[in-house]
Amino acid sequence: MPEGVHLEIAATVSSPPTELPRRYHVKSFGCQMNVYDSERMGDLLSAQGMAPVATPEEADVVVLNTCHIRERAAEKLYSDIGRLRQPRRDGSRPTIVAAGCVAQAEGAEIAARAPAVDVIVGPLAYHRLPQLLQQARGGRVIDIDMPAVPKFDSLPARHTTQASAFLTVQEGCDKFCTFCVVPYTRGPETSRPAADLLAEAKALVARGVREITLLGQNVNAYSDSLGGGLSLSGLIRELAQIDGLARIRYTTSHPRDMEGAGGDDLIAAHAEVAKLMPYLHLPVQSGSSRILKAMNRAHTRDSYLATLARLRAARPDIALSGDFIVGFPGESDADFEQTLSIVREVGYAAAYSFKYSIRPGTPAATMADQVPEAVKDERLARLQATISEASLAFNRSTVGRRCTVLLERPGRKPGQLIGKTPWLQSAVVSLPGAVIGDLVEVEIVSAMPNSVEAMPCRPQSQVA
Ligand code: 5AD
Ligand code: SF4
Repeated sequence: MPEGVHLEIAATVSSPPTELPRRYHVKSFGCQMNVYDSERMGDLLSAQGMAPVATPEEADVVVLNTCHIRERAAEKLYSDIGRLRQPRRDGSRPTIVAAGCVAQAEGAEIAARAPAVDVIVGPLAYHRLPQLLQQARGGRVIDIDMPAVPKFDSLPARHTTQASAFLTVQEGCDKFCTFCVVPYTRGPETSRPAADLLAEAKALVARGVREITLLGQNVNAYSDSLGGGLSLSGLIRELAQIDGLARIRYTTSHPRDMEGAGGDDLIAAHAEVAKLMPYLHLPVQSGSSRILKAMNRAHTRDSYLATLARLRAARPDIALSGDFIVGFPGESDADFEQTLSIVREVGYAAAYSFKYSIRPGTPAATMADQVPEAVKDERLARLQATISEASLAFNRSTVGRRCTVLLERPGRKPGQLIGKTPWLQSAVVSLPGAVIGDLVEVEIVSAMPNSVEAMPCRPQSQVA
């Protein structure tokens, strides 16, 4: 990994616009952390007086915020660059920024292969985007530094009007799952000081945010070294004191940090903190302990199931979601059957599944017994069918429940709005007069595989 500032200025490669750009478009390719980073880059550019636009075609600056976890991430980046570098009708072309984890991991290759890119910036350095854009007027700039001074200290206050907002509390990963590139692109686990987070959360609530989702690659490893080692559960309890904040969520958690005594306080928070929503994304990746060992996951099928049992004892209605990889090197039919069986056993409300795909430089990339693509395709289709059955069963189990829905966007029909239940289901509500941002009390009346329908009900004392 590069240390210290890595800044390269080459004056010859491209010719970005000579005037300072005024309109920007940020495209996200990946996970929620990536979406959050895109929002923050937008905040930075807005703070410079620039305006966001809906499409890359209208923009003077286009930021392609890449994600290395997604398949064919690099190809998607190159095909977007190919489109963007074509001159427009007026002969102009936008300043192109390659950001995110692919930029971090493959900055030099991007520089060699795509001369049209003006700025290459990693996920730990994007707070310097305005300066990098200035410098890019003299030629391409690369900044894939992993700085000691956290980027959060130099980001402007959030600009948001949404009812639900993300708040990054932790970044990086020390777990080194053998398939994953994140520890190499996002660096080691670091936590932001709780005092900063509480101030940011209060500012969000003052702007109308009702729900905050705490983000981190390993969010349950959160530990505020300045705040006496305050843990994620401590942070959640502090956030719950903020008047006007109705809901708290967090993602993504690692099963290892939830096992044994280490997870007790967070599990207890699920029982005790009413604002903490009954939903947990706890990726297991595989139902086979043999494969989990090869993945270096540091949990087994049984230890994972034991954690879920503790969670359900604390919060019986908790909805669970997970991530799965099929076709990890050496995965046999019997291993895969165990993945199907854990999906049925847990009864996930939702789950995300991926075909194993090689990430150069990770240990699994060179493991023997790589699984043929056709086998991966077949396993993925079977897994996704099993997950859909589990989600539908979960949604059906909630019919008749009364709960709140936080309205987030308009529905297809007039008077319809779509929001989220406490269990993170998308709920379609017909409620003329209601507006986005309202937290309404409803009864769930019917279930589909990916959503539920809810009817408004009179205020109830026992809503989740
Ligand atoms: N191949 C397939 N899926 C992967 N993930 C991470 N790396 C890979 C890879 N090399 C998946 C994991 C992780 C999710 C965000 O992406 O399931 O939890
Ligand atoms: Fe990647 Fe594993 Fe870290 Fe998650 S815990 S970011 S899968 S290395």
